[in-house]
Amino acid sequence: MVQLRLPADSRVTAGHIWPQPIGAARTKIFKVYRWNPDDGQHPRIDTYEVDLDTCGPMVLDGLIKIKNEIDSTLTFRRSCREGICGSCAFNIDGINTLACIKPIAEIRKVVKVYPLPHMPVIKDLVPDLTHALAQYASIEPWLKTVTPSPERERLQSPEDRARLDGLEDCILCFCCTTSCPSYWWNPDRYLGPAVLLQAYRWIADSRDEATGERLDQLEDPFRLYRCHTIMNCTQTCPKGLNPAKAIAEIKKLMVTRQM
Ligand code: SF4
Ligand code: SF4
Ligand code: FES
Repeated sequence: MVQLRLPADSRVTAGHIWPQPIGAARTKIFKVYRWNPDDGQHPRIDTYEVDLDTCGPMVLDGLIKIKNEIDSTLTFRRSCREGICGSCAFNIDGINTLACIKPIAEIRKVVKVYPLPHMPVIKDLVPDLTHALAQYASIEPWLKTVTPSPERERLQSPEDRARLDGLEDCILCFCCTTSCPSYWWNPDRYLGPAVLLQAYRWIADSRDEATGERLDQLEDPFRLYRCHTIMNCTQTCPKGLNPAKAIAEIKKLMVTRQM
């Protein structure tokens, strides 16, 4: 029988249990993944207890309170606090989502916060998105035209603009990509749902004049066709978008252009 051994650094150990807040009537326990590349230690899970009566309602509020009042070394990204920037994407309670729009009250027991799965970790909850962003750049996410620029803007009919609904709302949080088993196995060659949804956003844009070139770029057994319609991506998207449908639309276009 094959024996698989995990790398030594992959073992997650029990971490610090931080003191309870004094005099708090209503608290919530947060268990948070910690890893510091500089201290040579294994990753660990630290336990914090947050006073809910002096904390905002979202998981991000809890993390900010922990950082401000309990443990300033806790490291994570966040910016807008409105579900717009995509920075605060973590695995919370077993699901990839945005901490700033995830209510603490929706989590019945302990709030477990891990980095997005299957991404290299820079520190604590911060994933290294270098590769995913390079994949995004590879689809050339900007309007490409050959006709001369008009004096004013390139116009769209309301119907053409409506075709971008559910596409241009993507905030590139990568919750979908990091929930996709096909991406876990082939992150180097498969573009993943976030980047493919973005690719379709430009293909679907009536003003873009590079559709053929864009489809040529995606016509590849791995870049596009590693999607096996497992649908994790659509289930997890915190913005309610449907990357699996966008991928299916690209596949349909691949077929129709061959007819
Ligand atoms: S499709 Fe949804 S989950 Fe995926 S990157 Fe865009 S907003 Fe995030
Ligand atoms: S539908 Fe495709 S992109 Fe979405 S999770 Fe499944 S394999 Fe990944
Ligand atoms: S902080 Fe911007 S999406 Fe959560």
